[in-house]
Amino acid sequence: GDVRLWGGRFADGPSEALALLSASVHFDWRLAPYDIAGSRAHARVLHKAGLLTAEELDRMIAGLDRLEADVADGSFTGTVADEDVHTALERGLLERLGAELGGKLRAGRSRNDQVATLFRMYLRDHGRIIGGLIADLQDALVGLAETHHDVAMPGRTHLQHAQPVLFAHHVLAHVQSLSRDAERLRQWDTRTAVSPYGSGALAGSSLGLDPEQVAADLGFERGSVGNSIDGTASRDFVAEFAFVTAMIGINLSRIAEEIIIWNTKEFSFVTLHDAFSTGSSIMPQKKNPDIAELARGKSGRLIGNLTGLLATLKALPLAYNRDLQEDKEPVFDSCDTLEVLLPAFTGMMATLTVNRERMEELAPAGFSLATDIAEWLVKQGVPFRVAHEVAGECVKVCEGEGIELDQLTDDQFAKISEHLTPEVRTVLNVRGALASRSGRGGTAPSAVATQLTELKADLVIQ
Ligand code: ARG
Repeated sequence: GDVRLWGGRFADGPSEALALLSASVHFDWRLAPYDIAGSRAHARVLHKAGLLTAEELDRMIAGLDRLEADVADGSFTGTVADEDVHTALERGLLERLGAELGGKLRAGRSRNDQVATLFRMYLRDHGRIIGGLIADLQDALVGLAETHHDVAMPGRTHLQHAQPVLFAHHVLAHVQSLSRDAERLRQWDTRTAVSPYGSGALAGSSLGLDPEQVAADLGFERGSVGNSIDGTASRDFVAEFAFVTAMIGINLSRIAEEIIIWNTKEFSFVTLHDAFSTGSSIMPQKKNPDIAELARGKSGRLIGNLTGLLATLKALPLAYNRDLQEDKEPVFDSCDTLEVLLPAFTGMMATLTVNRERMEELAPAGFSLATDIAEWLVKQGVPFRVAHEVAGECVKVCEGEGIELDQLTDDQFAKISEHLTPEVRTVLNVRGALASRSGRGGTAPSAVATQLTELKADLVIQ
């Protein structure tokens, strides 16, 4: 029979072309459990408003329970003819309860307020799942920092040797950005904990239903929306979710890029575990960092999901427009992408081997201790402008002779500047350079230990 929800004023059914264009059931079916939860809550407020008897409510809930079980085991599914998940589940309910009772549930609600509510519920659940996966990655990175807490490496700016840093310091920098991503998810969740159910198509309902009870029933801690037009028409919660997930992708891609570089023959900073790398079909010697490359690639996809969604939302007049049906696939894809990517990425990071010797060897290379000469001179009372010149001169001499800074002789130092006494050698080593940067947030072992403690405390809360 005709499953359309608006049959009354139409003489003809939809053309096949329209039905195919209109259908969303193939992607919004994943909202089914949330739709059924919404229906239970709605049935209760219909009863509270005197529109369902206690006995009708019981039968309604039992019917919804049966429908839920049939959805869960796959014996009931939506079809293109149903158009969307909401319509399909209404058909399922009518089939189970008959038209008399089944037909009562639609009173006072619209697919517009339904979908806005269910979408929030779905994304809130997946926001929590993604938050948990980020915490797993942070744990792996914290573990990597802890087990290599004393390893020095070349810190870089512009990808050039800049100053030596602790490897742990570098790794924890990534943990910090992931902490902000996790915080963004939590703050987004708080903003999204408001239910549009009861907004109807756009104007609310004349039936005396209680949106606040529905909100509480569905786990919306901050109650129901204050404006039914906004409740049905706004999707900034989706855009923000798409941004946060894109930002996570971008942060992963930055770690990924480093892994790819570190894993090259030239760098040889890390070796990936066999279980988290791939081979080549033609070159037998190859061991490729595909997880990192896929992370880098998928970040593009996550950015695309955000920009596509923003383009859909731009200039939409209030209230609901069918364009909004395009809001779901991008962020469903963002959830799916991160839920597959993050566990693989965490596995890669948790199992890689660090080549300490190689990192330590390169830490002082590229004159990365030149700043230490300048800062040592400042401590001797030399203005920094002069100190910078003098240290630069040291580098120039070294480059000319093909030597490192600590290979300059006392005479060479004295010739460059009267301030460069042999005591300058005390800072011309990586350990000294690291230890001297002991202020908050610095790369000294003591400061990095504080950072580690703070992050671990954060991770417990998160
Ligand atoms: N399937 C639609 C969506 O995802 C919800 C239904 C609203 N349809 C409508 N014609 N008012 O946005």
